[in-house]
Amino acid sequence: MNVLIIGSGGREHALVDVCRRSDSVAQLYAAPGNPGMLVDARLADVDADDHKALVAWCQQRQIDLVIVGAEAPLVDGVADALRDAGIACFGPSKAAAELEGSKAFMKEMVVKAGVPTAFHGSFTDAAAAKNYIRRQAEKTGDSRIVVKTDGLAAGKGVILADTTAEAEAAVDEMFGGKFGAAGQKVVIEEFLDGEEASVFAICDGERAILCGSAQDHKRVGEGDTGLNTGGMGTYSPAPVMDHKTEQHVLETLIQPALEAMKKEGKPYIGFLFAGVMVTKDGAKLLEYNVRFGDPEAQVILPRVTSDLPLLLKQAAEGKLSQDAAVALSDKTALCVVMASKGYPEAYRKGTEIKALASVASLPDVRVFHAGTKEENGRMLAVGGRVLGITALGSDVLQAQQRAYEAVDKIDWPEGFCRRDIGWRAIARLKQAA
Ligand code: AMP
Ligand code: GLY
Repeated sequence: MNVLIIGSGGREHALVDVCRRSDSVAQLYAAPGNPGMLVDARLADVDADDHKALVAWCQQRQIDLVIVGAEAPLVDGVADALRDAGIACFGPSKAAAELEGSKAFMKEMVVKAGVPTAFHGSFTDAAAAKNYIRRQAEKTGDSRIVVKTDGLAAGKGVILADTTAEAEAAVDEMFGGKFGAAGQKVVIEEFLDGEEASVFAICDGERAILCGSAQDHKRVGEGDTGLNTGGMGTYSPAPVMDHKTEQHVLETLIQPALEAMKKEGKPYIGFLFAGVMVTKDGAKLLEYNVRFGDPEAQVILPRVTSDLPLLLKQAAEGKLSQDAAVALSDKTALCVVMASKGYPEAYRKGTEIKALASVASLPDVRVFHAGTKEENGRMLAVGGRVLGITALGSDVLQAQQRAYEAVDKIDWPEGFCRRDIGWRAIARLKQAA
């Protein structure tokens, strides 16, 4: 197959990496791609946001499968444009991508499907929203509550309020326009206590198969403190997702949603990312994302031993075979994100990263590029999150040691990383020993 991957981050680099290990792939392209992919893929000279141009390009290059990395192009309808032209695309239609694009729609589907989740309400009016907040606090005796913008707000539209006053202030901010159109509707929901993990599935419109679990560190600072980011590190598998819990998530949190989406006339094809809270009353759904996670992809995909593009092609055509399954290595993978100093706030662009080659040759280590540019043979950092350094180990401790050994070889004074990625899983491991 000739395969095109759309995107330019670490997740897409990990997709390139897993496709490169497949015997089914002939030519591999990325649009726009990044310099780290150049060993394994060709960069496509096409603007993937221009659907007409993209379709023509795919036809010219005889592309058999397109894999879309991020949510924005999906919400924008790239999968529809490709499928309408008869090109297999692994990613949901514009209508199905609403599962991430609108929290209110997601909640509607979750309720229709009977998926266990936090109780909640959706509001377009501040007074009604505040009323609900006060009533819930009285009813539950817990003043903690969660306030979310309905639309996409780059991960910033979620306020975990400790008090009713804080929640009401968040409502005012959202309706006051702080998040633009994303905040014209707000969702208020129960605060769930527990351990959070992500579970991934490959969906063909009817059926889902599991594709690994992971946990990430969203805060910029050690000990999970400071500002929220897109993710400073991950590890896979998530220890809290034992086989039984994962099966339960598939059967009660994922499969029923697929059936509800199909009934709705919006069959879901693509990676489905279930954000799950494992509470004392069992696993509950926090949210769906209509794509792989990043940096979750950077730890799960290196563990895949199946021919992944073949499975994605089957799923894209709506026909995963009955015995289809993703095989994963027993090893643990851990990814440390290296970011530009200052991230997630202002940071300098164009600083040079040296000694990357010394890491590329380490066994069981992969360097995924997320925000780099090559200029006259020099590798420059041009993004906030710049590199993902993933290592495999027999357990999370060994994976962590190897990942930091690799990080320490990289010469980039203007970059930084967290030094405690995996701490929760390591504490659990030490407790069990
Ligand atoms: P979301 O963008 O909906 O995934 O929310 C971002 C983060 O906020 C999640 O990953 C959780 O850590 C946290 N969160 C969201 N909803 C809840 C909830 N109902 N209870 C507790 N934490 C939550
Ligand atoms: N790491 C979280 C995400 O991809 O949304």
